[in-house]
Amino acid sequence: MISLNNKHILLGVSGSIAAYKSAELVRCFKGAGAEVRVVLTKGGAEFVTPLTFQALSGNPVSTELLDTEAEAAMGHIELARWADAVIVAPASANVIARLAQGRADDLLSALCLATAAPIAIAPAMNQHMWANAATRENLRQLSTRGIVQFGPGDGDQACGDVGPGRMLEAGQLARLTAAIFDTGSLAGCTVLITAGPTQEAIDPVRYLSNRSSGKMGYAIAQAAVEAGAKVTLVSGPTALRAPPRVERIDVRSAQHMRDAVMQHIADSDIFIGAAAVADYRPVHIAGQKIKKTEDMLTLELQRNPDILADVAALKNGPFTVGFAAETENLEQHARGKLQRKKLDMIAANWVGENTAFERDDNALLVITANDKQQLATTSKSVLGRQLIELISKHYHGGA
Ligand code: PMT
Repeated sequence: MISLNNKHILLGVSGSIAAYKSAELVRCFKGAGAEVRVVLTKGGAEFVTPLTFQALSGNPVSTELLDTEAEAAMGHIELARWADAVIVAPASANVIARLAQGRADDLLSALCLATAAPIAIAPAMNQHMWANAATRENLRQLSTRGIVQFGPGDGDQACGDVGPGRMLEAGQLARLTAAIFDTGSLAGCTVLITAGPTQEAIDPVRYLSNRSSGKMGYAIAQAAVEAGAKVTLVSGPTALRAPPRVERIDVRSAQHMRDAVMQHIADSDIFIGAAAVADYRPVHIAGQKIKKTEDMLTLELQRNPDILADVAALKNGPFTVGFAAETENLEQHARGKLQRKKLDMIAANWVGENTAFERDDNALLVITANDKQQLATTSKSVLGRQLIELISKHYHGGA
């Protein structure tokens, strides 16, 4: 049984008789736990109506590049960021040529240019069109750009020919889609991740905290599991459910988080500190609720332990990845933390109003001693996978 639990699958349907199989594909994706959105090209809409896909996916179907309903009228960017994977099925010879050219004059081609998510195509066409040198060259170009090809199969064709060019069946396509996420790049590794905020008690009902939702850390945990790792997630208080196959340990304060991390660190190959740990905690925690008797109230604070620095300082410790949340001089401050805390890698993000905290998308500048990679704004789930692939490359010594 395949799992696409909570995955956002964007299905692009282009003009081919095989489009009727895409209706079944939506059902397979949904049955595996995915949320599905369908983008129909003009050609695709000649074969199957938007209403069919709307009824099966439970979501509106997008057809137009310029969409006044979309936020800022940029539906292609919204969809590009929403998708965890873009599957073009059927991919007609025309769509393959348009993707190879990098066209952006319809919704499907524009969002394929704009997405950071993996893209797969399921070709469907007549066998002579499939064998044509132009199609072969277009496919070669797409492959060099990392676009994955599912099929095609061989057999009877709608036009009466027999040969290669049949779109794979829905069940096969769903299985291949699930395999995109299971990279195996951290197979056999044990990964310890912190996520979410910490809460530092002031009295029995109040605490100091921050705006971290845990979404970034949870997305990294999900990506690490899909890469084949055994994952433990030490989580501050969040409203999120632990991803499947992740062991979650709930903590409240920075001190609790440190205790839980240190208890598990000896078994960990990789440590990723995505939590927004409070730097300070109140010196005294009032035994009873503090009454509002004075006009001014002063809280005395003391430094919390730096969990990340403590892990990085361990003898024979794990490959250690920190985060840097900055409101100014992003790269400079991140490099300072990388060196001061003696980290193997740091992922830096801008924070403030409308960036990083609580949102579903983010961007990261990932820095090591001899490498720097900018991961552009995209959903936290795609970003989590990109970060895990970078970590895996450096951990295995390939970068
Ligand atoms: O949770 P979301 O809403 O998805 O938001 C994601 C995020 C913005 C919280 C996340 O991407 C992020 O930036 N996490 C780190 C936040 C942070 O505390 O950054 P910092 O620059 O203050 O700390 C640097 C590093 O030291 C971090 O890895 C932090 O986990 C660690 N640290 C900090 C203080 C401390 N006492 N102990 C620590 O381990």
